[in-house]
Amino acid sequence: MDDTSVLVTGGAGFLGSHLCDRLVAAGHDVLCIDNFYTGSRRNVAHLLGKANFELSRHDVTFPLYVEVDRIFNLACPASPVHYQFDPVQTTKTSVHGAINMLGLAKRVKARLLQASTSEVYGDPEIHPQREDYWGRVNPIGTRSCYDEGKRCAETLMFDYHRQHALEIKVVRIFNTYGPRMHPNDGRVVSNFIVQALKGDEITIYGDGQQTRSFCYVDDLIEGMLRMMDSPAEFVGPVNIGNPGEFTMLELAELVLKLTGSRSKLIFKPLPADDPKQRCPDIGLAGEKLGWAPTVALEDGLKPTIAYFKGVLGV
Ligand SMILES: NC(=O)c1ccc[n+]([C@@H]2O[C@H](COP(=O)([O-])OP(=O)(O)OC[C@H]3O[C@@H](n4cnc5c(N)ncnc54)[C@H](O)[C@@H]3O)[C@@H](O)[C@H]2O)c1
Repeated sequence: MDDTSVLVTGGAGFLGSHLCDRLVAAGHDVLCIDNFYTGSRRNVAHLLGKANFELSRHDVTFPLYVEVDRIFNLACPASPVHYQFDPVQTTKTSVHGAINMLGLAKRVKARLLQASTSEVYGDPEIHPQREDYWGRVNPIGTRSCYDEGKRCAETLMFDYHRQHALEIKVVRIFNTYGPRMHPNDGRVVSNFIVQALKGDEITIYGDGQQTRSFCYVDDLIEGMLRMMDSPAEFVGPVNIGNPGEFTMLELAELVLKLTGSRSKLIFKPLPADDPKQRCPDIGLAGEKLGWAPTVALEDGLKPTIAYFKGVLGV
């Protein structure tokens, strides 16, 4: 990609702001749009003076008329506390947002990358999850607004591709962490770090033996950029994540070690529909994009902890 104009929806969010950083540094003309539902101007404040960066308030559930070559569609609250706060709006953001971005891509013949999610696999019966696994999703639960909204967005991407020959790219993002995560988003990495830094009890749901894989944000953004630049015939979906599995107890202990905190662990019941295990098979990303994560959990946690220290002023 060079000299292209790029639209990033949800660009003031956690992942979107890191993506804007990379695109601006590479010299692209970047239009970042966001309705600031979970994102913040602070995340992109350092880009506002750049000649090739523009920030605009816009809600993707409404049509947008701009001239761009490429679209990264990231707009959507990503953590359960945020997407369950207004579930109807969450589905609208995924579905109407996808329809509006697809309509825009069709009009201006832009290539469109959709930020999908490992949540499309639901509570999976197979491990690790490959892209050809169809998932096990509850259609009527409290996570469904997000899971089914994202599944419908994928459906729309592939139908526009088949029906209108639109250039699409679908990435399924697994748990990602790093600086600019929300301190109060209820996700396990930010929860543990914030609790440890404040000296509060560290909350473990269930017995702490459920595993998650954690991808550092820089690795994730590299995977997204490679996917956007990959040959048109490779449309995905492709898993982007880190297959290294850690139990919640292992993560808690690592956070305690790196923060030097003396916080105690406490155990609470598992929330509804919480998957016991989720881990990406990243064979396809390796084969098609030459991509694999490079940042070890301990190395990624250090800058993340430093970021949260700044946010909390500790
Ligand atoms: N972070 C992860 O681990 C992860 C995992 C899987 C998928 N994803 C996907 O990646 C994308 C970015 O996630 P994130 O972690 O940066 O979350 P985030 O909440 O930090 O970013 C989402 C951004 O979208 C904006 N937004 C929400 N609704 C909007 C609307 N209607 N119109 C315009 N903007 C809107 C928010 O204000 C925010 O800036 C999301 O689509 C999410 O589903 C993230």
